[in-house]
Amino acid sequence: MIDDVRIDCAMCAMLNRSINRFIEIDGAMDISMHTSSIIDARIQLIAERIREATRLTIMTGAGVSAASGVPTFRGQDGLWRQYRAEDLATPDAFARNPRLVWEWYDWRRQLIAGCRPNAAHDVIARWSKRHGTAVITQNVDDLHLAAGTQGLIRLHGSIWELACWGRCPQGATPWRDDRVPLDQPRCPLCGQLARPAVVWFGESLRREDVEAATSATACDVFLTVGTSAIVYPAAGLVHEARRHGAFTAEINLEATPASSAVDVAIQGSAEEILPAIHRLL
Ligand code: APR
Repeated sequence: MIDDVRIDCAMCAMLNRSINRFIEIDGAMDISMHTSSIIDARIQLIAERIREATRLTIMTGAGVSAASGVPTFRGQDGLWRQYRAEDLATPDAFARNPRLVWEWYDWRRQLIAGCRPNAAHDVIARWSKRHGTAVITQNVDDLHLAAGTQGLIRLHGSIWELACWGRCPQGATPWRDDRVPLDQPRCPLCGQLARPAVVWFGESLRREDVEAATSATACDVFLTVGTSAIVYPAAGLVHEARRHGAFTAEINLEATPASSAVDVAIQGSAEEILPAIHRLL
């Protein structure tokens, strides 16, 4: 845990030095006590920056929904550890075996239907109502919407929306369908097979979503929460925000490729850290 301590703002560097001195002096002193004071200091720092910010952007990944019971993709029991993405989440996979793909998406829909927003979603929903706040998500579970998040940018679509696989003119615009279970639905307009309106590997994101997310990187504070920061273009947004001079922070249970790029990285759960920051606002 401590080895991961790496922050490049003056205050935190000083904090870092003093803690290491503590550890040197007290040897087996209770590391967790120091760890929590590090986390406290960072929570205060992020809260301070959010208080001062006019433009706040939050980007989320599967880790934000983990506490609601939605499996992540690459975590311990992540979906991609049990299933092969190339068999289930690509246009080729759907062309090859639409029944298998639909069975998997229907299983995920049934699972998500039983999940409720958690404290992390609730805090983000409250912040989204603040002027100048943008919320970008990679999640397709729509739990941010269920929590009341406004102006949500859904980069990877929604598991609750369908589109016409045959791309008939009207069916190209996704429509909502909350029915569970769902067995190989058809396009109501042309009768061809419908597909989940999510962005599959190898597919382009909607231009308007990418444009909205990119312009949201011109902000004062950019918070990346619960994402492994390896899937692009989403993983590039924090670096874009840094280029715009934003104060950047990451909240994740573990270190990610973004951890060394942000101003402050907190290793902790979103459902604990976000409410802790919110209490200081
Ligand atoms: N709080 C904070 N972070 C958490 C929590 C939690 N409670 N639980 C897990 N995490 C972290 C994990 O440590 C991991 O780094 O969330 C991250 C989840 O990473 P992924 O499973 O890779 O999910 P994500 O980054 O959203 O995936 C991006 O990849 O599979 C595609 O399209 C899919 O949108 C998805 C994209």
